[in-house]
Amino acid sequence: MPLLPILRWPDPILASRCAPVGEITDEVRALAADMFETMYAAPGRGLAAPQVGVPWRLFVMDVGWKEGAATPLVLIDPEVIWRSGVEVTGPEGCLSIPGIVAEVSRDEAVRLSWRGLDGGRQEAMLQGFAAICAQHEMDHLDGIVTLDRIGPEARAAAEAALA
Ligand code: NI
Repeated sequence: MPLLPILRWPDPILASRCAPVGEITDEVRALAADMFETMYAAPGRGLAAPQVGVPWRLFVMDVGWKEGAATPLVLIDPEVIWRSGVEVTGPEGCLSIPGIVAEVSRDEAVRLSWRGLDGGRQEAMLQGFAAICAQHEMDHLDGIVTLDRIGPEARAAAEAALA
């Protein structure tokens, strides 16, 4: 399984809305496996398909592996079906925007529905870091990055640091 190159902002694929995955083929399963390998090597806790150049609604995440409690998840065609409406603001990095930490506001809890690699629908309530990570990755599927969720001054400073 190869490591995949991670696209860097402002690659236009990172700004595009991704298409539903639909049928889960061997190609989808291989992509998910390669994305896990790429995410762990980066190292990161979440990686969305557009970050490796594939404009599909799929992401992988594992919020516990760095602390020795691996919880790998593949989320295919995910949807947010409930939001807490209570926002928290915290620092977020992104493998596609290396070196930049943005203060982003998110719902502190969300309920997600998605399909796993077996095609079956799953649902879970996510809270804490898992909720933040999932919302960050869902944003990637809609062509949104952290820099799109911060104020103009913070964005200008980030863009200057990246230039
Ligand atoms: Ni990201």
